[in-house]
Amino acid sequence: MSLKNIRLEVMQAIEPKVQGFMDSFLIPIDEIWQPSDFLPDSQNDNFFAETEQIREEAKELGYDFWVTLVADTITEEALPTYESWLMDVEGIDQHSGKENGWSKWVRAWTAEENRHGDVLNKYLYLSGRVNMREVEITTQHLISDGFDIGTDRDPYKNFVYTSFQELATNISHKRVGKMARQKGNVLLGKMCSIIAGDEMRHHLAYREFVKTILGEDPNGMIEAFADMMKKKIVMPAHFLRESGDSIGTAFEQFSDCAQRLGVYTAQDYIEILRKLNDYWEVGNLRGLSEQAEKARDYLMKLPERLQRISERMQFGQDQYKFKWVEANGML
Ligand SMILES: [Fe+2]
Ligand SMILES: [Fe+2]
Repeated sequence: MSLKNIRLEVMQAIEPKVQGFMDSFLIPIDEIWQPSDFLPDSQNDNFFAETEQIREEAKELGYDFWVTLVADTITEEALPTYESWLMDVEGIDQHSGKENGWSKWVRAWTAEENRHGDVLNKYLYLSGRVNMREVEITTQHLISDGFDIGTDRDPYKNFVYTSFQELATNISHKRVGKMARQKGNVLLGKMCSIIAGDEMRHHLAYREFVKTILGEDPNGMIEAFADMMKKKIVMPAHFLRESGDSIGTAFEQFSDCAQRLGVYTAQDYIEILRKLNDYWEVGNLRGLSEQAEKARDYLMKLPERLQRISERMQFGQDQYKFKWVEANGML
């Protein structure tokens, strides 16, 4: 059987379990938080006073912080790219006629994710610290440019990617929230922490998908995991650009900013890989094909190898001048 057909069969075999994953890892719409729970209520007379407080508190946060928060927001705002990409994955099948659990998952996941860009965007607008028009242009560019995360339409590779990426966003939102709190920004701290909580639930779901696939097709799954790690997990905003610039030109500077702040670092990448290896018990997989054994051994040695490389790695220390934020010193 071709690789594609095996994957389709595995996706169909797991499909009846997807509703259970949704019940375990997503929150019913009527119970989950909404952006309005955190932002000043524009129907309330206190709106201007509360907005003034946001603007005052925002003055305490420095340049690298704002750049990171803006880029995190834009990454969330490019959700149309992620939903359309996932809907196109083999086995997700939104056109099957009957209600397919996988496409239901993708829609419900998207609906939860959509609140992240929404709340952050409104906060940025109220903060008075960023050039919203430039932020909007970058967002439009990023959605228009799409992305290529090297997963093709392969569900195995896509679920490795999402398992990894949801944990990466959990880490970065959590750290941004902590920094905001340390500077007295209680509201922003709360918003980022609650977003981080969503990302964690999503991570737990996607890593469960992979674990379930490992039970059905360990050879195919472990080879797909190794393949993704060989290519490296690229960030979803790797095509980030500012107005007037060419595709991808802003990404490296943003990434340097996040490293300098300690919001998301090369060390985090290695730790995520270690956690995935542990949860999927990669080192304990037995009875594999020769190729899958090679993939397993590669994955088990990879964290150490990346550790050695990261110790020699340098990242940019120069503060790049983004059009999104006015410079006013470092955090
Ligand atoms: Fe998100
Ligand atoms: Fe997410």
